[in-house]
Amino acid sequence: MNFPSTKPARRPSHRTDQRAIQILRENDWGGYTLPSKGLYPYQWNWDSMFVALGFSEFDLDRAWTEVESLFEGQWGNGMAAHIVFRRDMPGYFPGPRVWETTEKIPTSGLSQPPVAATVVRDLFEKDREFGWERLREIFSKLVKWHRWFHTMRVISGGTAIVVTHPWESGRDNSPDWDAALRLVDSEGIEPYTRCDLGHVDAAMRPTKEDYDRYMKLVEYGRSTGWDHTQITREGPFAVADPGITFILTRADRDLKYLAQVLGYRDSLYEIEGWLATSGQAADSLWSEELQAYVAYDLRHGCFAEGVSSVAFLSFYAGLSHPGRDRFLLRHLHRFLDAVQYGVPSFDPEHPFFESKRYWRGPTWAIINYLIARGLLDFGLREEADLLRHSTREMISKHGFYEYFDPLDGTGSGGKDFTWTAAIWLAWASPMVDGSKNHPPAFSGEPSQA
Ligand code: GLC
Repeated sequence: MNFPSTKPARRPSHRTDQRAIQILRENDWGGYTLPSKGLYPYQWNWDSMFVALGFSEFDLDRAWTEVESLFEGQWGNGMAAHIVFRRDMPGYFPGPRVWETTEKIPTSGLSQPPVAATVVRDLFEKDREFGWERLREIFSKLVKWHRWFHTMRVISGGTAIVVTHPWESGRDNSPDWDAALRLVDSEGIEPYTRCDLGHVDAAMRPTKEDYDRYMKLVEYGRSTGWDHTQITREGPFAVADPGITFILTRADRDLKYLAQVLGYRDSLYEIEGWLATSGQAADSLWSEELQAYVAYDLRHGCFAEGVSSVAFLSFYAGLSHPGRDRFLLRHLHRFLDAVQYGVPSFDPEHPFFESKRYWRGPTWAIINYLIARGLLDFGLREEADLLRHSTREMISKHGFYEYFDPLDGTGSGGKDFTWTAAIWLAWASPMVDGSKNHPPAFSGEPSQA
């Protein structure tokens, strides 16, 4: 097979790049990378995929290995788990003995946002010849995982993707879950001791009330023997999430492209079927009241109470709706005007906003990267550049923190955090050619939401 040469030129180095590379190397535990040594001592799903992007800047082989190792923990039903436990670390809670899953490699019982197919496409595009066999190996695993989302995480004819635990969204304590979580009765949960508070200030972490309910949902899942159909259909928490829905739509588009490259017609038809429903999924998440895409509680039939930054991922999904885009951009500018360093994870003008508490306000490098990538796909370069420069400035001034206070840019949560280092290398560093966009998710016209 002949491939056009797509090998990137070696880029010049930069001092902060060197430190970022060092963080990736230090947190590399042999084929997989820890998000942060003390706080998160296992392999996390979407963390690893951002890490693969970081590795791909200086070690493409290692980047592919990161993706492959995540899928070693894939379940028989297709789910790629949110945490893969390759050992039992007593300093982490809730570890493998709490989840009690029964697959060959111990994992958690949930999934996480499926950025993998998009990352795989990026790795493949960096050097097609090098990636060809590895793409063929991983492709069917990606299809199985996407199928799991499209069948096991949708409810009663709906097409938006449902999360059955706030952890599944990757945005643990976002106000997006508040109303639905309040209705989860945490009476009678087993006693437990959190470990996160030994690493990070309690004011930056989820509250005890939230944590009790997270544990209740884990106990419920375990009581079903991790029967995902039952958990989605009957469990105490089922919220349609714009974050996962848009990330999966984007990933479906990239998977479709890869199916075309590989010439896998059956997969192509299946993926096209999923994509045909993406507009309908977006429609179901549009709140006329808030004029934005908003999480929707399917158990109680109501939207969340405010706008969070994942609303802006509709662009990343390749979805365009002129009427709605206008409102989304208005929200985006409002978010950015209210803080020094956007994009805050939740509406900074909303009473639920807290600038230092995890997903209730802080700015995250990975989310900025995803939003900016989508904006650039639609030619919104000014906004995309602004996000990149803010991210660069926060990291340069304060270091590779887990997340940042949007009001003053100071870092919070874990220090020397792997995904922040990875996003620096792949996107925020001044050494990256910002004028070059990744291949857009769509070929030809973007779809109408
Ligand atoms: C937290 C984050 C989640 C991330 C994990 C590891 O749980 O909310 O998105 O994957 O930490 O970094």
